[in-house]
Amino acid sequence: MTAAIPFRQNWQPADSLPDMDEQEFGRWAALLEDRTGMFMPPERRSFLVTGVGLRMREAGFTNHEDYYRHLNSGVSGNLEWAALVDRLTVHETHFFRDRRALDFLREQAIPELLAARRQQDALHLWSAGCATGEEVYTLAMLVDRYLDASGDPRPWGITGTDISFASLAAARAGIYSQRRCGELSADHLERYFQELDQGRFQVLPFLRRHACFAHLNMIEVGRLASQQADVIYCQNLLIYFSRARRLDIVNGLVHHLRPGGLLVLGAGELVHWRHSEMQRLHNRWDVLAYRRRDN
Ligand SMILES: C[S@@+](CC[C@H](N)C(=O)[O-])C[C@H]1O[C@@H](n2cnc3c(N)ncnc32)[C@H](O)[C@@H]1O
Repeated sequence: MTAAIPFRQNWQPADSLPDMDEQEFGRWAALLEDRTGMFMPPERRSFLVTGVGLRMREAGFTNHEDYYRHLNSGVSGNLEWAALVDRLTVHETHFFRDRRALDFLREQAIPELLAARRQQDALHLWSAGCATGEEVYTLAMLVDRYLDASGDPRPWGITGTDISFASLAAARAGIYSQRRCGELSADHLERYFQELDQGRFQVLPFLRRHACFAHLNMIEVGRLASQQADVIYCQNLLIYFSRARRLDIVNGLVHHLRPGGLLVLGAGELVHWRHSEMQRLHNRWDVLAYRRRDN
């Protein structure tokens, strides 16, 4: 099964934006692939043309050539690149997005993992491609509840990483509209959020203290010092990459797991992956999960 790639919902019409010929499209798609790993097949052409065109116009450029040159010109080019990447990445997410993966974590994976660890060992989770933070706080609520119910006092934390600075800033603030919080049960809302003005809710400080957020381009994951995570939760991210990139990324992630640690992927995001250090974890929820073998 191949997961469908969602498009951003807040499209504006591309009227009056300059079009790109095949060669120009190829050049922008190659730049994006090279720097972020994101694969732009021809059927996503209008997505790229509109995203580049809108951002180019906001930045005061009228043609692709000048804008391209600017992006490749030192510090101000790098700042503009960050703004463009934010425009070209899809940040769709919500609380408790994949119920089956979360049930799997709560009912099987985390209990097994903790049973194999000493009680003083900290538990560290990593949400890779965390967007605006809903996934991180969902995992935080799940872990908090689990440890609380089992009277387990161990320290724990969750790191969210993403390529989009704007998304990370929103994630750090942990403020969500009433509509976004509509997916939360009354009990979760009561226990983990405080109401602000204008129907907005903020994650309570005690839960936010367990979360930290960092900028990371996943194509560099293989070069990063080992993170020693117990769980890496990587959902709705690999779909934006070619198969070769997906393999590079997951192979790179293996070395960030502690022995016995888990890698949880989205359904259909990577088929037929094998790694000598990883064991497929079959489960009744059919969640795509792997455990790093013990040394
Ligand atoms: C569709 S969201 C998924 C959010 C969350 N994981 C979920 O499943 O709800 C994909 C996220 O991946 C991020 N992303 C895309 N390319 C990336 C890259 N090369 N490195 C890190 N993050 C990336 C995007 O910025 C976006 O926030």
